[in-house]
Amino acid sequence: MVNYDVLNFQIRGNHDGSLVALENSKEIPFDVKRVYYIWGTKRDVIRGRHAHRKLEQVIICMAGTCDFILDNGTEKETVHLDNPSKGLLIRHNIWREFTNFSPDCVIMVLASEKYDESDYIRDYQTFLDNVKNTAKGKTR
Ligand code: TYD
Repeated sequence: MVNYDVLNFQIRGNHDGSLVALENSKEIPFDVKRVYYIWGTKRDVIRGRHAHRKLEQVIICMAGTCDFILDNGTEKETVHLDNPSKGLLIRHNIWREFTNFSPDCVIMVLASEKYDESDYIRDYQTFLDNVKNTAKGKTR
């Protein structure tokens, strides 16, 4: 089983529309230090192709749909995002690729740390080595 969670946010809706409120350490299980968003991606493009050493992220598909392929080094699972009231929580040491974007897809990402290139693992073999070393209680 790949380690991730889908968070179901409370919708505070009425006939005027829907609203979701997100607070640090409440709906979001960390303090948000960075927000970024992605849109205008062609359907067949594969984004991501990396893991993180420490970073945790909650990914929300604000409009449209897309697929996240999550890989823990031995298993892969695909999570289909199609609703802004759901948040995909991905922790460290998970290789992620995202694709199959609808033309109207807008993804917002809430991150536990500021941007730090040294937290990225962009080479798949290095990711596999890191998973093995972490399991042995070592980190690199
Ligand atoms: P990248 O991580 O390659 O995007 P994705 O994983 O979604 O395919 O990021 C694209 C570019 O944006 C890259 O030059 C790094 C930069 N960037 C920032 O400056 N700050 C950020 O918070 C992020 C996520 C990316």
